[in-house]
Amino acid sequence: MDNHYQHRANELLAHMSLSDKLDLLSGPGMDLTNYSGNPAINLDAELAVEGVAGYINGVNNEAVNIPAIKLADGPAGLRIAPTREGTDATFYATSWPIGSLLASSWDTQLVEEVGKAAGDEVKRYGVDFLLAPGMNIQRNPLAGRNFEYYSEDPIVSGEMAVAMVKGIQSNGVGATIKHFVANNAETNRFFSDSQVSPRALREIYLRGFQIAVTEAQPWAVMTSYNKLNGAYTGHRHDLLTEVLRGEWGFKGFVMSDWFASNVSGLATDFSHYATEPDHQSAALQIKAGNDLIEPGGLKADLQASFDCGELSEADIDRSVVAILMQIQKTPSFKQLTYHNDPDLNAHGKLARQAAAESMVLLKNTDQALPYSAGATLASFGTVQINTLKGGTGSGEVNSQQVITIAQGLEDTFQLNQSVMQYYQEYWQENQYEKQALLGKYPFADEPPVADNTVLQRLIRDAAQHDHAAVITIGRQAGEGEDRTATRGDYLLSAHELALIEAVSEAFHQVNKTVTVILNVNGVVDTYEWQDKVDGILMAYMGGQQTGYAVADLLSGKVTPSGKLAQTIPMAYQDVPSAPTFPGEKDKQNPTMTQVDYHEDILVGYRYYSTKKKPVAYPFGFGLSYTDFQYDDVAITHNSLNSKEGRAELTLSATITNTGKMAGKDVVQLYVAAPQTPLGAPAYELKAFTKTAQLSAGERCTVTMSVTQQRLASFNPERNVWVLVAGDYHVYVAPSSDLSEVTALTVHIEHDIVVEHTTKGALT
Ligand code: BGC
Repeated sequence: MDNHYQHRANELLAHMSLSDKLDLLSGPGMDLTNYSGNPAINLDAELAVEGVAGYINGVNNEAVNIPAIKLADGPAGLRIAPTREGTDATFYATSWPIGSLLASSWDTQLVEEVGKAAGDEVKRYGVDFLLAPGMNIQRNPLAGRNFEYYSEDPIVSGEMAVAMVKGIQSNGVGATIKHFVANNAETNRFFSDSQVSPRALREIYLRGFQIAVTEAQPWAVMTSYNKLNGAYTGHRHDLLTEVLRGEWGFKGFVMSDWFASNVSGLATDFSHYATEPDHQSAALQIKAGNDLIEPGGLKADLQASFDCGELSEADIDRSVVAILMQIQKTPSFKQLTYHNDPDLNAHGKLARQAAAESMVLLKNTDQALPYSAGATLASFGTVQINTLKGGTGSGEVNSQQVITIAQGLEDTFQLNQSVMQYYQEYWQENQYEKQALLGKYPFADEPPVADNTVLQRLIRDAAQHDHAAVITIGRQAGEGEDRTATRGDYLLSAHELALIEAVSEAFHQVNKTVTVILNVNGVVDTYEWQDKVDGILMAYMGGQQTGYAVADLLSGKVTPSGKLAQTIPMAYQDVPSAPTFPGEKDKQNPTMTQVDYHEDILVGYRYYSTKKKPVAYPFGFGLSYTDFQYDDVAITHNSLNSKEGRAELTLSATITNTGKMAGKDVVQLYVAAPQTPLGAPAYELKAFTKTAQLSAGERCTVTMSVTQQRLASFNPERNVWVLVAGDYHVYVAPSSDLSEVTALTVHIEHDIVVEHTTKGALT
């Protein structure tokens, strides 16, 4: 098939003028609302999709007629305008759980289903590429876009991206993995230089991308805004051509992130960047293998670079062919008709299931949960009304509705109406538009409890009459800004803490329980207050069905089976990257921020476990309403010492549901590699699987395999991935806390070079 596309691409190329070619390389420019006035775009007005993020220009000459190709965000679902002038029709899309939540399912089948459904909406709304998934590593819990990303671990990120890309692309539309690479903070994001060692790049920051490329072949990759070790990622030939294409065999095309190469063209919010000359150059991007410039408008720049000999026709042709090869597969190119008719109901159900099977039960003292359906609950907190379905910025989705936590609970339980009325009125009177970099969102600070006799009385009465209390705490975050380790952000605000304190005191006095629901974009501190409550549900942002999913879990309709794909530390200061996040002003060039990835490969649990630092909730951890027992852990196949074929290690284990409720478990495989002079983390996740739903007493056998590549570490001096000789301890465990898990040992006789890499790349 690739040959066919290659052949056809060359044919098309032969009939294109230089001007046509340059149209293809640089999108139509910055007017994101009305492209039909631009002749280069070749877009039939009826086929325009309002609200897409950008286009690839079409080509229209005597011999070639390629329509414009439509690109739309994003990681939590298709972002297009929900309404259009001149029609009553609506164009709502499903708002899926955010990436961090989906990853907490540890269920690649489920994520592939979500990808399939999200891609179906892309196709049915006439769009060609989804600008998703986002798969950067969650290096630091304060990174503003963590919610779009999957995990602090590259294997989880990579496997999730594989599932998502396969799901999306099964519809005949393209996926775009982003942001390539080391884009782990939002502060000064156009002018930030990530300084990362080649080993940390290979083992942590690139590895997920490598897995996604080799196992799912996304049609496109989006480069990041930042520099990597002194050069913009979009300018790095070693990254885009030698590593991505040469080493990994990537067959798609590479696009820039929006405005990476014309920052000065940005809207007023970014005007302070306009004076900075040091931004990405379109010609250098093309030369490096960054084929498409978005949103574009740089044809004249490319022409000038060609005229002065900076850019050759061969450079241009290479990128044109890369783009042509992929766009031949798109619905627009094939002129497929579409009817704007996704099955939003069916997708809503899947969104609810995905959210419920991903949210993580962190705490459940004395089986406080589940609450029986029909129980009377007093539900506190403004975010139960202002429920956060997802983060802000390009990852937002225009869904028809959001089921709030209040609505979800109301549907299943009996809610204390006086408390509900209090919060509804409070919300009406106190909500305001909180300013984020890319837009505003509605918010209200929690009402104070001290001196608030109304709220105090409501709490007292509720403790007398209701079965239990639920408190919702919320945090929004989004593109363009990082979070802070302050009160009201990473730390709970004084009012939130006071609410938890007052409700817990009143309910505990009468032996009733309190559950906190965290409707958050990412990690918040739990250490300060977790002892005061009985239950904690890490709900993240569950998309449009958040409220139902929360109720499904609180009522036991669904047994929790999500586990953390990121660590919750004891304190922000414990985070290994805390000292250098989000970077420091470069002394020589103050517009530039330097981010020193000084913790190297010790990101997330790799650091806490190696340094034996206690954490609040470990990576991979999540409670269930039932119990699981692991038996018969055994190696069923081991060809790791062989140099031929698919050398791998396979383990199996029996998982028994020893509790009283049906449930699923996430089974994880960690490996402690032998120590070498280069050093190794205490242990690392290498594989995982999720069981089917097991009824009480039921058991199943799970198997997990690891290839030599997965086990190998990167040796930057030799430019090789190597499986070093020695003993490997293998753990099959329910979380990354291995303190009570017995290992099996596998011996590797000699060093085995698993992969050769480009000499000196990425430094
Ligand atoms: C974001 C990308 C997004 C693009 C188009 C950029 O600001 O970084 O993730 O796909 O905008 O909306």
